[in-house]
Amino acid sequence: MRRSRSLAPCCVHEHLSQSSVLTLLWLLTSPGVSVCHRAEMDRWRGRVALVTGASVGIGAAIAKELVRHGMKVVGCARDVGRIQKLAAECQSAGYSGVLLPYKCDLTKEEDILSMFSAIKSRHKGVDVCINNAGLAHPEPLLSGRTSGWKEMFDVNVLALCICTREAYQSMKERNVDDGQIIHINSMTGHRVVPSADVHVYCATKFAVTALLEGLRLELREANTHIRASCISPGVVETEFTQRLYRDKPEIASTFPFFDMKPLEAVDVANAVTFVLSAPPHVQIGEVQMRPVRQVL
Ligand SMILES: NC(=O)c1ccc[n+]([C@@H]2O[C@H](COP(=O)([O-])OP(=O)(O)OC[C@H]3O[C@@H](n4cnc5c(N)ncnc54)[C@H](OP(=O)(O)O)[C@@H]3O)[C@@H](O)[C@H]2O)c1
Repeated sequence: MRRSRSLAPCCVHEHLSQSSVLTLLWLLTSPGVSVCHRAEMDRWRGRVALVTGASVGIGAAIAKELVRHGMKVVGCARDVGRIQKLAAECQSAGYSGVLLPYKCDLTKEEDILSMFSAIKSRHKGVDVCINNAGLAHPEPLLSGRTSGWKEMFDVNVLALCICTREAYQSMKERNVDDGQIIHINSMTGHRVVPSADVHVYCATKFAVTALLEGLRLELREANTHIRASCISPGVVETEFTQRLYRDKPEIASTFPFFDMKPLEAVDVANAVTFVLSAPPHVQIGEVQMRPVRQVL
């Protein structure tokens, strides 16, 4: 996201209004001259973001990036120790924001509600909600265990809905009209992968695609300028596959990278700051991103 392109073209339009210039700057340079990108991210400095599933992988990379941009980030997961380690790393790197670890099991609504009330009492509320936590179990439709299906729906769909509702209510009660909700969806939310192990996982991500559009419509009906977006990555190198095949490590070691270079978690984190740095009237609906060599 940090391409070097000349700033000159966007600096010569003196006749344009300041907001037009900012928009033009953004359009000309997106997704990434660092100077413009940083300027647009400045408006989030000191504001509160919730990142679910911040202990590892994509969530950890997003949390770190937002802290680097000066945000107050509440990072939640079950393994809070790993978030504490990440918070210490952010601090020693001298990042201007702060990472606040919070232990939360997203399969439990009471945990989610307690987290939102802790955020309210300690930090007033949530301005940005990144619904990242997610998982897959290799439980096919014809033979899978209900418990595996349930956990996928609980975390990937229900927790996302609960966090979205609570984040919106938090914004509304504080008259925050420029908040942002981002779902970390997946390319599997747009086409079914022909592998029985992930059919139910695909269904949870298709649900996220539908939920995003529903959310956009409800936010519009509620007359807010709160924005909602999805980021749908293809294969990203994280613990996801090891966790998916925790009982079949031989598959985890070969699947699914084949001969291609997968996306890195930071690539997805950069897409998050790209979405956040869009001018307030621009709502990025969906970012789809794959490794160049990915087939499906
Ligand atoms: N990796 C990929 O190829 C890929 C591709 C497309 C989309 N995605 C999506 O990207 C998101 C992040 O995945 P990732 O690749 O970073 O996976 P990951 O490395 O396995 O990390 C998953 C995160 O979710 C958290 N989580 C899982 N169950 C939880 C629960 N019950 N309560 C709280 N937190 C929970 C985990 O934290 P704890 O275990 O500490 O609780 C962890 O922080 C997911 O929504 C996934 O579907 C991934």
